[in-house]
Amino acid sequence: MEGRAAALGLELRIPSPVEEVEDDLFARQRIRLYLKRDDLIHPEVPGNKWRKLNYNLEAAADLGHDTLLTFGGAYSNHIRATAAAGHHLGFSTIGVIRGEERLPLNPSLAYAASRGMQLTYMDRATYRVKKNPKNPEAIEALHQQFGDFYLLPEGGSNELAARGCAEIPQEIAFAFDVICCPCGTGGTLAGIAAELQRGQRAIAFSALKGGQFLAAEVDELQRRAFGATSDNYTIECEFHFGGFARKTAELQAFIDDFRQRHGLTLEWVYVAKMMYGIRALAERGVFQPGTRVVAVITG
Ligand SMILES: Cc1ncc(COP(=O)(O)O)c(C=O)c1O
Repeated sequence: MEGRAAALGLELRIPSPVEEVEDDLFARQRIRLYLKRDDLIHPEVPGNKWRKLNYNLEAAADLGHDTLLTFGGAYSNHIRATAAAGHHLGFSTIGVIRGEERLPLNPSLAYAASRGMQLTYMDRATYRVKKNPKNPEAIEALHQQFGDFYLLPEGGSNELAARGCAEIPQEIAFAFDVICCPCGTGGTLAGIAAELQRGQRAIAFSALKGGQFLAAEVDELQRRAFGATSDNYTIECEFHFGGFARKTAELQAFIDDFRQRHGLTLEWVYVAKMMYGIRALAERGVFQPGTRVVAVITG
């Protein structure tokens, strides 16, 4: 899809740049910290959004679909990115939003609608079971209403998404030891961990409270995408700051300090929690002196 994107004038910054961060705390411990700036891939389809969509859009086109349908909460980054990708690459898009319609639309949904996405709403009980193969009625009803479409799962995480994310470590030209990413559904981690060399490991930081269940999701995605699981990753579950899309004064102070020292405003739902977690692990002496740590800025 990158070829088609370029042909349609969608300029993607791939490979995304890698930047070293000069930071006293890490320097004192002789740890080198690098940022893999996936947030710079495209302003409207940034970070792991493009990585996850790339091969899915290719599959949709190959299968002759002209419509994408996907799911998300009312503030979903994935909904926005799918709307933008569809607009730029010539797909119609349908966004199935969890819960009741609220008017006026919030800025995320207003943006998706401005990119041509048709919005529809699904009650929370149906939304919870929509993926369960024992309950095919929810998806069948969507086909009855909207006809043929290529279905992207919530958060965009499926096998093809994991394969797209596997390209992140492939693009890093130097030998690193640890690669870190945020974790919401596990698709990004599943891809990254599958593509590491022997001796390298991945650490993911759950943006959700109670993220322990994510390891099983990652394993399942790896099995489906790559035929095997990898045992080279861990998921840190203590840096959720109260839960998904919750923020504390401490997290905000960290974001402000990082911006002042490094000139980068960290996306707070996922990326800031990861960066805070990396710093906390460094302070605890988890990384040996000389460790090269790459943090993937996923959005
Ligand atoms: C900026 C950002 N980082 C990380 C994630 C989590 O990625 P995953 O769902 O693949 O674990 C998301 C959500 O998809 C996100 O929007």
